[in-house]
Amino acid sequence: MNINTLLKKRNFDKNDIVNLLSVHTEADTDALLKAAYRIKLKYVGNKVYYRGLIEFSNICRKNCYYCGIRSGNSFVSRYNMPNHEIYKCAKFAYDNNYGSIVLQAGERNDKRFIEKVTTLIKGIKKLGKGKLGITLSVGEQTEETLRKFFNSGAHRYLLRIETSNPCLYKRLHPADHVYEIRKKCLQTLSKIGYQVGTGIMVGLPFQTIENIANDLLFFREIDADMFGLGPYIEHKNTPIIKYKNQLWNKNHRFNLTLKIIAVLRIMMKDVNIAATTALQALDIYGREQGLLAGANVIMPNLTPIKYRNSYLLYEGKPCLDEGAEECQHCLEQRIKAIGEKPGYNEWGDSPHFAAKHRYYKKQPD
Ligand code: 5AD
Ligand code: SF4
Ligand code: FES
Repeated sequence: MNINTLLKKRNFDKNDIVNLLSVHTEADTDALLKAAYRIKLKYVGNKVYYRGLIEFSNICRKNCYYCGIRSGNSFVSRYNMPNHEIYKCAKFAYDNNYGSIVLQAGERNDKRFIEKVTTLIKGIKKLGKGKLGITLSVGEQTEETLRKFFNSGAHRYLLRIETSNPCLYKRLHPADHVYEIRKKCLQTLSKIGYQVGTGIMVGLPFQTIENIANDLLFFREIDADMFGLGPYIEHKNTPIIKYKNQLWNKNHRFNLTLKIIAVLRIMMKDVNIAATTALQALDIYGREQGLLAGANVIMPNLTPIKYRNSYLLYEGKPCLDEGAEECQHCLEQRIKAIGEKPGYNEWGDSPHFAAKHRYYKKQPD
């Protein structure tokens, strides 16, 4: 089927998605990305929402085979930022009119960690006079813990499924990392009332285009509100580095990520999609290209420079030596250069979340 006929379809099936992700001529790729950009303008506009990212600890109990800060990597020097430093980052976000922040860390389930996150949420709510939105990205937690965080003031949660294929999930994680638990956690987040974000890595060893088409169908099925997807990037101190010769080349992973963003935008229209840092790691204009393919959110890194080298999920992470202020200036220029504008002082919730809730309210019990 020709690309324009495909793009006119109301609902993509798996085959359509595979065909769209497989376009490779410049003209077809351009048609796909431009169609996605038009839909983005129509449904979410040309504002780019900021989520100031605070990577407050790299201590993680998990050992995902692709990740540079997994517990088994003894070359990493571990840190846990003191609360006063975290508040300073949040204050920067508030003073610079960022609508919200993301508190991200490796996964821990112990009481001290849970108390720390709860204290931080409450403290940041107060410091931001209730205006600073708080997104959490602290891994799988029990329903009780997730409720505690929600009731303290967090309203969004990011938990990438990484891949929706249980067999591939198994190959990339140790036996005690359970796909079904992760999926259940996404459902629990939704039930509690969080705006839920998920996503995948693109170009993982053994991953196929069919797997990715199924990931997109999975996104639609769980009806998430926000998405973060980026290319998988190698890290030398990880078990799966041994497959490095079998990977798609970086250029292919990069272009495929843009096509996935575009197809996702066309399929889910009013959701929030991040132009991830991993895109910028592969191309200096990676995030701009993500925005032009349909993304509408950017996560400027607010983590103090002294910790950045210890939060390397993959190699070649950008902005290791640029502090929050430099990135702030640089990002604003980049966003304006492509004809978009920063959504300062706005939470920038996905219209998808609001629409979904209006819809459910209307339904009889
Ligand atoms: N390359 C790209 N992304 C990675 N992540 C972890 N390791 C890598 C890697 N090597 C992503 C995962 C995780 C998020 C915090 O970072 O998708 O959910
Ligand atoms: Fe820990 Fe997340 Fe890295 Fe897995 S991807 S090892 S949970 S920080
Ligand atoms: Fe960090 Fe450009 S975004 S220097």
